[in-house]
Amino acid sequence: MCSHTVCQSTVIDIFVQILEGSRKNFMGFRAKYDMMNKTGKGEAMIFYFTGTGNSRYTARRIAEISGRELIDINEKIKRQDTGSIDAGAEVVFVVPTYAWRIPKVVEQWIRDTHFTGAAKAWFVMTCGDEIGNAAGYNRKLCEEKHWEYMGTAQIVMPENYIAMFAVPKPSTARKIIQNAQPRIETAAEAIAAGRMLPEEKATSIDRIKSRMINPVFYSLFVKADAFRATDQCVGCGKCGELCPLNNIKTEGGRPVWQNRCTHCMACICCCPVEAVEYGRKSVGKPRYYLDV
Ligand SMILES: Cc1cc2nc3c(=O)[nH]c(=O)nc-3n(C[C@H](O)[C@H](O)[C@H](O)COP(=O)(O)O)c2cc1C
Ligand code: SF4
Ligand code: SF4
Repeated sequence: MCSHTVCQSTVIDIFVQILEGSRKNFMGFRAKYDMMNKTGKGEAMIFYFTGTGNSRYTARRIAEISGRELIDINEKIKRQDTGSIDAGAEVVFVVPTYAWRIPKVVEQWIRDTHFTGAAKAWFVMTCGDEIGNAAGYNRKLCEEKHWEYMGTAQIVMPENYIAMFAVPKPSTARKIIQNAQPRIETAAEAIAAGRMLPEEKATSIDRIKSRMINPVFYSLFVKADAFRATDQCVGCGKCGELCPLNNIKTEGGRPVWQNRCTHCMACICCCPVEAVEYGRKSVGKPRYYLDV
């Protein structure tokens, strides 16, 4: 778990309040869900990938409501584990948005992994702003996997891309997470009931972003060259442990970044002493990590 102090206490606080505030809804919904299960509907296994915790949090909420098993894709990718998974009939992927699509590493992992028995797939994408035409690509992925496509939900959560932008201050992050609750609950209810997720129609600009800007973004920006550890580094090894791509080696007690990076922002946001910088872009910016 990350010990980053800027966000931790605030966010735990939010989490407890949200859970307490929504408990009634959960209980009512859970009862409905249990009934659906008795009639054979609503089986689902929830897979999540995360850099800074937003998608893990969202996946946990959905799992809590639906009572389904949660699987950590970070661990699978880190161990290069693409072994068959006995997934049941329904699979749910909760992931961040990278350049208006699901992260490439997750897409590849889904392609390479056999999900025994899976027939239907839902996608829940957390984002700082919007997901463009990610749904179009998720639909294609389902066609490849011979799954029925059950929709893509867009959940706006705090921005985490500190290599490019500023992240919201804790009070703003707290509001964004609160505002996300109805959409998370709507998605969880649709999944548990075996319904399609509500989707907005992609515009031509959305299609340009997901189709044309996405590959340019990866080739120009997604590199680890600019990462460095400052003299504040205490050699704790947390950045390397968290990196889902094993892209951080330790040399002389210090982290050194290699050339396999997906810009998930885990290493830079979770360093307990804020010793990771991304060129000059991150200098002086607060870090964001949702540690619940
Ligand atoms: C490499 C990268 C690309 C991103 N691209 C988008 C994007 O296209 N649209 C968007 O709204 N947010 C984008 N974001 C913001 C994240 O999708 C958002 O903060 C997400 O909730 C982070 O999830 P996580 O904490 O589970 O990693 C991007 C973040 C990163 C690190
Ligand atoms: S950069 Fe931060 S997380 Fe990585 S080893 Fe140094 S102190 Fe630990
Ligand atoms: S090096 Fe850092 S940003 Fe890149 S994949 Fe690893 S943890 Fe994520």
